[in-house]
Amino acid sequence: MSQKTRSFLLVKRPRGMLSQEAFALNHSEISDPERGEVLVRAKYFSVDPYMRNRMNDVPSYVAPFELNKPLEGDAIGEILQSKSDEFIIGDLVSGVFPWQEYFVLPAKRIHKIDTDIAQDTYFLSVLGLTGLTAYFGMMDIGKPKHGESVVVSGAAGAVGLVAGQIARLKGCYVVGIAGGEHKTKYLSETAGFDAVIDYKNVANVRKPLRKILPDGVDIYFDNVGGEISDSIMYILRDYARIILSGQISQYNSGRLKTGPRLLAQMIVHRAKMQGFIVHDYRAEFAKAQKELAGWLKQGKIQQPENIIEGFEKLPDALLGLFSGENIGKQLVKV
Ligand SMILES: NC(=O)c1ccc[n+]([C@@H]2O[C@H](COP(=O)([O-])OP(=O)(O)OC[C@H]3O[C@@H](n4cnc5c(N)ncnc54)[C@H](OP(=O)(O)O)[C@@H]3O)[C@@H](O)[C@H]2O)c1
Repeated sequence: MSQKTRSFLLVKRPRGMLSQEAFALNHSEISDPERGEVLVRAKYFSVDPYMRNRMNDVPSYVAPFELNKPLEGDAIGEILQSKSDEFIIGDLVSGVFPWQEYFVLPAKRIHKIDTDIAQDTYFLSVLGLTGLTAYFGMMDIGKPKHGESVVVSGAAGAVGLVAGQIARLKGCYVVGIAGGEHKTKYLSETAGFDAVIDYKNVANVRKPLRKILPDGVDIYFDNVGGEISDSIMYILRDYARIILSGQISQYNSGRLKTGPRLLAQMIVHRAKMQGFIVHDYRAEFAKAQKELAGWLKQGKIQQPENIIEGFEKLPDALLGLFSGENIGKQLVKV
């Protein structure tokens, strides 16, 4: 028996700002799973900024999306048919899934999720790759110490919100940078950030940052790059750590401006800058998820989720990340 499905294909590699032109909705039929495979119905898809980079045909830590094939992303779904000994019908599973309502995958590419630890969507947010990025970036590279000052850019996004809250619970003074009053209000009134800057409402974040942190910053968790990050270079404290999580402000730029030009500041302040990819920490994911789940239960951290309903909204949801529509993790419910 075959199953009808809709999928989203990448039909055009975007130049500059991502637009709907890149995507096409496709109808097809998929066949039953063979031995070692499972048929999955997608429940939730995560949309993530890195997906924009995978649309470019350039070498990276992950292969580019192929033209005229379904895009793919982190998702959770339910097993509808199983030809694997490891899964039974009804199991909730996660993995990197094609942007399809139904699909067949080898069982070795999916993982069962344990909803005793947390609700299912949390496995795409705070216990998923974005929460884990915040965790390993802050804990392993930032190594926050009580009383230190921390700045987080993209602070109201999925990674930034968790990164800032972790620094808070480690006893740091945390400043969040985000765009728009509703976001800065959320960060200070609900997520417990000590100070916030609405970068869309100031000419440059350097002046307000200096005012809030006259002694400078010990840890900068960088999600956005560009001019916001340039400003931080002028307020580094000695032995500052810069955690390079992402550079979302550059993802839709065609040709990048050459640089950086401000590294002399790092020499003066004996600072350290480190990029990382969350997958490098895969062996430690389970341990980190346990700790994050504990903090969630104790109310020490929270992760709002912005959920858009409808498979056909996947491209809109991805586009929305670059205009800053989400507070917390952006998900699409199928
Ligand atoms: N290293 C890793 O392994 C890893 C893993 C996951 C994610 N990341 C990176 O972490 C960063 C955050 O990811 P996320 O999942 O938290 O993103 P997200 O939830 O999609 O949030 C992204 C936020 O970035 C802000 N933004 C968009 N364009 C911007 C611009 N031009 N300048 C300044 N801010 C801009 C928007 O908020 P505003 O309204 O505040 O502008 C938007 O809501 C991304 O750069 C991503 O690539 C890295």
